[in-house]
Amino acid sequence: MCGIVGYVGDKESAPILVSGLKKLEYRGYDSAGVAVVNRNQLNVVRATGKLRNLENRVVADQPQGNIGIGHTRWATHGRPSDENAHPHTYKNVAVVHNGIIENHLSLKTQLRAKGHVFSSETDTEVFAHLISDELEAGKELPDAVRGAIEQVKGTYALAVVSATDPHRIVCTKNASPMVLGLSEGQNFIASDVPAVLEHTRDIVYMEEGDLAIVTAAKVDIFNRQGHPVNRATRRIDWTPMMAEKGGYKHFMHKEIWEQPRAVADTLRGRMLLTEGDVHFEGWNLTPEKVRSLSKITILACGTSWHSGVAGKHMIETLARLPVEVELASEFRYRDPIVESSHLAIAISQSGETADTLAAFKEAKARGATAMAICNVIGSAMTREAEFSVLTNAGPEIGVASTKAFTTQLVALYLLAVKLGRMRGTLSVAAAQEHLTHLTEIPKMIEEVLKCEPAVKRVAREFMNSQDFLFLGRGPMHPVALEGALKLKEISYIHAEGYAGGEMKHGPIALIDEKMPVVVIAPKKPHVAYEKIIGNIEEVRARGGKVIAVIDEDDDQVAGLADHVIRVPAACALLAPVIATIPLQLLAYHVAEMRGNDVDQPRNLAKSVTVE
Ligand code: AGP
Repeated sequence: MCGIVGYVGDKESAPILVSGLKKLEYRGYDSAGVAVVNRNQLNVVRATGKLRNLENRVVADQPQGNIGIGHTRWATHGRPSDENAHPHTYKNVAVVHNGIIENHLSLKTQLRAKGHVFSSETDTEVFAHLISDELEAGKELPDAVRGAIEQVKGTYALAVVSATDPHRIVCTKNASPMVLGLSEGQNFIASDVPAVLEHTRDIVYMEEGDLAIVTAAKVDIFNRQGHPVNRATRRIDWTPMMAEKGGYKHFMHKEIWEQPRAVADTLRGRMLLTEGDVHFEGWNLTPEKVRSLSKITILACGTSWHSGVAGKHMIETLARLPVEVELASEFRYRDPIVESSHLAIAISQSGETADTLAAFKEAKARGATAMAICNVIGSAMTREAEFSVLTNAGPEIGVASTKAFTTQLVALYLLAVKLGRMRGTLSVAAAQEHLTHLTEIPKMIEEVLKCEPAVKRVAREFMNSQDFLFLGRGPMHPVALEGALKLKEISYIHAEGYAGGEMKHGPIALIDEKMPVVVIAPKKPHVAYEKIIGNIEEVRARGGKVIAVIDEDDDQVAGLADHVIRVPAACALLAPVIATIPLQLLAYHVAEMRGNDVDQPRNLAKSVTVE
């Protein structure tokens, strides 16, 4: 998501920090900043927007000093602005942070009660205040950082400098990456290897709970218990481009594999298991308002529209509220019926898609309450919305949406539970059960990714096919649509996604021995399973090749299909999150084997900001 870089040595740090941040630009960001320490003085420069804005300020009035930290921010708490950009400071302390502090609101309340005044809307600023208090209590900087992280719940890669301790950077990590770059007479820290590659290829990967004290001469690492530890130094031979992709050949592949983390970030801090409820920061719909809703209208395009179709199943089942899923490009040009009792939800990775934005504005103008489910805070859609649920997937660079889709599904499930509780259609116990299912999802995604070798074999066999058909029923219908979209957009193979029940109404005419048919057939819900077996029989009877995505323990469909991809069994409404992943991998490997430009497929743009 965000990027961190730090330097301590004998050179001026500001230009090194800015050039390190440039190497992280590919990750996406909305603001940036550096903090440099010089003879017990802290100098901070920050700027919203592109890095050149920061660079211009640094060049105009360069902060002097041989030690500093820098950051590119991708907003999660608080809009993109100079004040919300990192580094955040309090008294003598400056911090940069990647991750999310879940308990920042309660910590802020406690700190305010002690007289602290906050100058940003971010969760990160809490770190600067906590560390400063610990220093004032007489602790050394490393112990002050330890003292602060003991009070924090959440994820972090954190780097800290202090004007009263001007020769060392202290950094620590928990569930967000942090590396150390080692060199003669100078050392570096970074969230990602590319930031330091031009200076050193000797890299130490910090482990969970590690805390490092970095000076120009050496690096000392301590584990969570505070014991000194040795972490291996690795020589990194990646080209800068390989490093940006974390060693993966394409961003899309990296983003597929990032999904356990991305989904965990969507869930983080939102599931109240004991209460059987969901917490969305800034939620502003009163119980009366939620009870008075008569309809939800989801507005979206492409992959985001598919997640809307899955969301319809979730919300209607758990909150018993009618949901219509509209193609934004169609909605905006009709005369839609919108009432003040309607909730319009725009779903968008980018938050900038022109059709979705126009449809959303139209629904709002006609009186609907406007909510966005979006990956980019501060985007046009979140600005238009009265309330936004951020998916927190981190920047998605591959044109084909992958982690954006699965994080949207998870956000929609959280929303369905929240609405179900508020409307009284879910008991505390039922909500707890749904939330427990959600907690299992990141682990299940890790499991399902292990199917990649099986998917690759299928890709090799069918990479030269002219057409593909994808079939799914019930909650798997949007998965079939998404599987087909993914394949066509990056492999350029014609692919259709259909609800299984529609096959007899037309697509069955296409089936012959050359036609691969991907059937998504989890055992739940049972009614869909029974019916999709009928579809499989129909395909077989016409010589079509069946590639079935099935539950791990399913022998029945395994006995019918030509190829099977086994996935862990999830509950019916969450199974789309799991079942989509083999289809993403299938599209990826077919496209890659055909030699296509996977990340930038022809004719497509990442963000469709024109009609
Ligand atoms: C997905 O792989 C596509 N590239 C595309 O369909 C995309 O989902 C659509 O353009 C909507 O984008 P958004 O989520 O940023 O609004």
